[in-house]
Amino acid sequence: MPLPESSRRELGDGFQICPLPIGLWQLSGGHGLIDNEAATEALFGYLDDGYTTLDMADHYGPAEDVYGEFRRRLRQRRGEAAVETIQAMTKWCPSPGPMTREVVAEAVGISLQRMDVSCLDVLQFHWWDYDDARFLDALAHLADLQSEGLIRHLALTNFDTGNLARIVNAGIRVISNQVQYSLVDRRPEREQLALCREHDIRFLTYGTLCGGLLCEEYLDCEEPGPSQLETNSKKKYKRMIDAWGGWGIFQRLLNALANVARRYELDIANVATRAILDQTQVAGVIIGCRLGLSEHRTANARVFDFNLDSDDWQLLDEATQGHNDLLASIGDCGDEYRS
Ligand SMILES: NC(=O)c1ccc[n+]([C@@H]2O[C@H](COP(=O)([O-])OP(=O)(O)OC[C@H]3O[C@@H](n4cnc5c(N)ncnc54)[C@H](OP(=O)(O)O)[C@@H]3O)[C@@H](O)[C@H]2O)c1
Repeated sequence: MPLPESSRRELGDGFQICPLPIGLWQLSGGHGLIDNEAATEALFGYLDDGYTTLDMADHYGPAEDVYGEFRRRLRQRRGEAAVETIQAMTKWCPSPGPMTREVVAEAVGISLQRMDVSCLDVLQFHWWDYDDARFLDALAHLADLQSEGLIRHLALTNFDTGNLARIVNAGIRVISNQVQYSLVDRRPEREQLALCREHDIRFLTYGTLCGGLLCEEYLDCEEPGPSQLETNSKKKYKRMIDAWGGWGIFQRLLNALANVARRYELDIANVATRAILDQTQVAGVIIGCRLGLSEHRTANARVFDFNLDSDDWQLLDEATQGHNDLLASIGDCGDEYRS
C-alpha cells in the first residue's frame, strides 16, 4: 500500500516532503551488514510507494553516495522527470574550527558531488559547542551559498531553544530543526515549540520508534541487556528509556499503544508514529531504514488509516504518568550530544 498523495506536507517555504522520510543513518554501521548495491535498488521500491524524501548526513557512511547512485539510476531508467520527484535532506556536522567561506563552501561542494546534484534541497546544520559562536559565521556563509543557488533551504539539527533564537535573531532563515521526538521524549514541546511556532520553523523528528524498541516485538518482553540489543540505535534509545523512567513504565506505554492499535487493527509503530506526526509544527517523522535488510514501508503507510481521539490520548497519557523529566536531567533538544 503506498503513502497517500494527500499525506504530503510542507517542510517550509513551499517545500513539500513525504511525511515519513527515509532515514539513512542505519547505513553508517552498527545496524547489520548493509550492502550499498542492495540499498540503492531498495530505494526504487520505496519511491514507488510514495516515499520520495530521504534524510542523510555527511557522516552517515556511504549514505550521500548511495543517494547519488540512486539518482543516476533513476534518471537512466525513468528520465529527468522522475528525478524531479525526489527530495534529499542532508546534514553538515563540522568538527570545531574556523568557519571561513572556504571551509563552508568546500563542505557543501563535497555533498553536492557525492549526491550528484547541482543544488542541495535541504542542508541541516549541526554544531557541537555553543560557547564557540562561529556557528553564526558558518550559517551566514551557508546563507550566501543559498543565495548563489547551491542550497535550496537551510535547516538545523539538534539545536536547543536558546541557540535557535540566536540564529533567528541574526536574521538567518531556517525552515526546520531535526530533533529527537517520541512518546518517550517530548522535550520539543516544552521550550522550543513556542519559538518554532512564532517563526514558522518545523520539526523533523527522529527516534520516534526508539530505534525499533517502540514496536510490537518488545511488547511484554523481558528487559533486554545491552548484548541482546542488536543495533547501535536500540542501545542508544534503551539508555534514553532508562533515563525516562525504565523498562516498567516503557512496558506500560507499549501496552497502552497496543490497546489503541487493536482498536484500529493497526500496530504499535503506527500509533507511536501518528502520535508524533499529529503534534504542532511536526512536518515529518523520519523512520530509519536498514535498506535491503528489513522493510516496513507497507506497514508504515497505514499510519494515515486512522485518527487518534481523546480516549486514545487519555490511555497514552495515563500510561506515561510518573516518567522522569528529561528536560531536567538531560537538557533541551540535542543536549544529549553535548553533555
Ligand atoms: N539528527 C540526528 O542527530 C539524528 C539522530 C538519529 C537519527 N537521525 C535520523 O533519523 C533516522 C531514523 O533513525 P532513528 O534513530 O530515529 O530510528 P527509528 O526510526 O526510531 O527506528 C528505526 C527502526 O525501527 C524499526 N521499524 C520501523 N518501522 C517499523 C514497524 N512498522 N514495525 C516494527 N519496527 C519498525 C526498524 O527496525 P528493523 O530494521 O530492525 O526492522 C528500523 O530500523 C535516521 O536514519 C537518521 O536519518 C538523526
